[in-house]
Amino acid sequence: MKYQALELQLNDTQVTPTFVEQQLPELAADQVTVKVAYSDINYKDALTLNSRSGVLRQYPQIPGIDAAGTVVASKSTAFKVDQKVLLTGFDFGISWPGGYAEFITVPAAWLVPLPQELSLADAMWYGTAGFTAALSVRALLKYNLPLAAPILVTGATGGVGGWAMAILHQLGYYNLTAVSRNVAATDYLQTLGANNVITPAELADPRQRPLQKQKFVGVIDAVGGTLLTDILPQVSYSGIVALSGNAGGNKLAATTLPFILRGIRLQGIDSVSYPTAKRAAVWQQLATDFKPTQAQLLQQNTVEFKQLPNALATFLAEKHHGRTLVRI
Ligand SMILES: NC(=O)c1ccc[n+]([C@@H]2O[C@H](COP(=O)([O-])OP(=O)(O)OC[C@H]3O[C@@H](n4cnc5c(N)ncnc54)[C@H](OP(=O)(O)O)[C@@H]3O)[C@@H](O)[C@H]2O)c1
Repeated sequence: MKYQALELQLNDTQVTPTFVEQQLPELAADQVTVKVAYSDINYKDALTLNSRSGVLRQYPQIPGIDAAGTVVASKSTAFKVDQKVLLTGFDFGISWPGGYAEFITVPAAWLVPLPQELSLADAMWYGTAGFTAALSVRALLKYNLPLAAPILVTGATGGVGGWAMAILHQLGYYNLTAVSRNVAATDYLQTLGANNVITPAELADPRQRPLQKQKFVGVIDAVGGTLLTDILPQVSYSGIVALSGNAGGNKLAATTLPFILRGIRLQGIDSVSYPTAKRAAVWQQLATDFKPTQAQLLQQNTVEFKQLPNALATFLAEKHHGRTLVRI
């Protein structure tokens, strides 16, 4: 059977997204074919248009690191035809054809059954960003932070930070500070649960003291770079920083003093290779106690499959709030 997919083709350093016709492959053992209903756009998806970003190792490639849909063929005992499933991470959309396609054929070990409480669109409203936010929140919850604990969330206008903010708010945390370069986003960030919105500049110390006033017991950082450098000296004694992002760069200039004098913890968060066996439990939390009861709290933008080349190209350049779904 033939189907449409969006392929990225490389000419010199120029990457061009082109719709191509694909043929469904023969299913190998333990593989599953899924009819895709929704995908989404993550920061990493947008970077695939930049051949120098290093996200894709080879072109041509069908990108899209997330997908949700219905099983149409299965050579796995774990998944049946008509079952609804979701997929984020692994090599999907990186070195394996990804979610920007009408059909995908993937190893069963990459799939998660769609929780009953979620629609396929909900699953992609979360996508990799929501899953990463859930892992970040879980890292903080391990330390039993009280609901009054001051928590800082960076990149909160985006997917990971936005979901982290919304989940913390849903859980009852009420001393939440959002960081954004976009002051016009203040109202939006307040609806997500921020009771304080600051700019990165407000966290910068001109004197760059290695230890500053202890302000935050928990931090969820989706930006990294110099912002993380500025945050570490302000983390409270035995505080926890869950770091997932590098939108602000992947170099860290820091001293060891907050670690050895305040016992702070820096926890890396990885959603890509997170073990299959543990994924369903995280998605169940996203479907239940982490799910905001206030509908449409986190902004949801939907683009049609045919609009995807333009939506991908403008994703990083234009200011966007929340999450962008792709209806396939
Ligand atoms: N570790 C993992 O498994 C994992 C999983 C998912 C994502 N990530 C990473 O997490 C980051 C966020 O991903 P996303 O999908 O949430 O992206 P997104 O929706 O584009 O959001 C990123 C947010 O970060 C802020 N930001 C962007 N560039 C910045 C810069 N140079 N300095 C300061 N702030 C900046 C922006 O907020 P303002 O414009 O409001 O400042 C933006 O809303 C990316 O680096 C992504 O690669 C990692």
